[in-house]
Amino acid sequence: MPDRELVSSHYTHGRLVEAIAEGVGRLGKTLDEVTVADLAPVDEFHVGGRVATEAFLDQLDIEAAHEVLDVGCGLGGASRFAAERYGCRVRGIDLTPEYVATGNTLCAWVGLAERITLEVGDAAALACADARFDRAFVMHVGMNIADKAALAVELFRVTRPGGRVGIYDIMRTQPGELAYPVPWAASASGSALAAPQDYKAALEQAGFTVVAERNRRDFAVEFFARLKARAQEGDGPPPLGIHILMGETAPQKVRNMIDNIARDLIAPVELVAEKPS
Ligand SMILES: C[S@@+](CC[C@H](N)C(=O)[O-])C[C@H]1O[C@@H](n2cnc3c(N)ncnc32)[C@H](O)[C@@H]1O
Repeated sequence: MPDRELVSSHYTHGRLVEAIAEGVGRLGKTLDEVTVADLAPVDEFHVGGRVATEAFLDQLDIEAAHEVLDVGCGLGGASRFAAERYGCRVRGIDLTPEYVATGNTLCAWVGLAERITLEVGDAAALACADARFDRAFVMHVGMNIADKAALAVELFRVTRPGGRVGIYDIMRTQPGELAYPVPWAASASGSALAAPQDYKAALEQAGFTVVAERNRRDFAVEFFARLKARAQEGDGPPPLGIHILMGETAPQKVRNMIDNIARDLIAPVELVAEKPS
């Protein structure tokens, strides 16, 4: 079962702001010129990147007046996308201090620091008032959280009546031994996968009504095929990409991810749920 320290040390890079600033320079831009779209290849740490975020968040009907919570926000890529696309305010929380600090720096670079606040915190014990948010979303975080019931209870508590939450996580689709390392864990001890039915049971037990479910396996297979084709064409990785976050074992993590999905052991799955009014 992953504990907080193991999770946070798994994701800690050490010099992330510098590495991303170098990548921005290699794009031919200054830190004043860089845009939310330029950063997307490195700050969306989930299957499908920005394309997946857009398809997922559009289901939450986010409005400009909404207060939105990004649970396990990482570098805050989806927070910046949401603030820019829907005009809302976003609060992000994440266990890994380096991600939070880097994410706040990226918000300042793109001029969104006024509308987005990223903080260190635990998804299973949120330091937020009850019914504080109109919308909340979780992207590729539950794989590190064993207690899905605690996650669902916290999401329910902080969402206002009539509010919506979305989860886009890697979920277990069949039993079988996974190949490690994967992007979220170096070994099985850092991983806490659950099946879609377990997530849905936790959400319903907490009081939500699950209104949508979508398995994104085919999308993931196409995404990884495009990634592979680009890697074979180019000479080395692009200036900005999630290879920066995954470190030296990035190629192995991606290969294992593709293999685990191809064997139908795991898949990225979206769930949308509503809190009754
Ligand atoms: C694969 S990254 C995804 C980050 C971001 N949601 C995205 O899609 O780009 C997983 C993130 O979950 C965070 N995380 C894992 N367990 C957490 C917990 N219990 N509470 C808050 N954040 C957590 C990690 O620190 C990491 O930033």
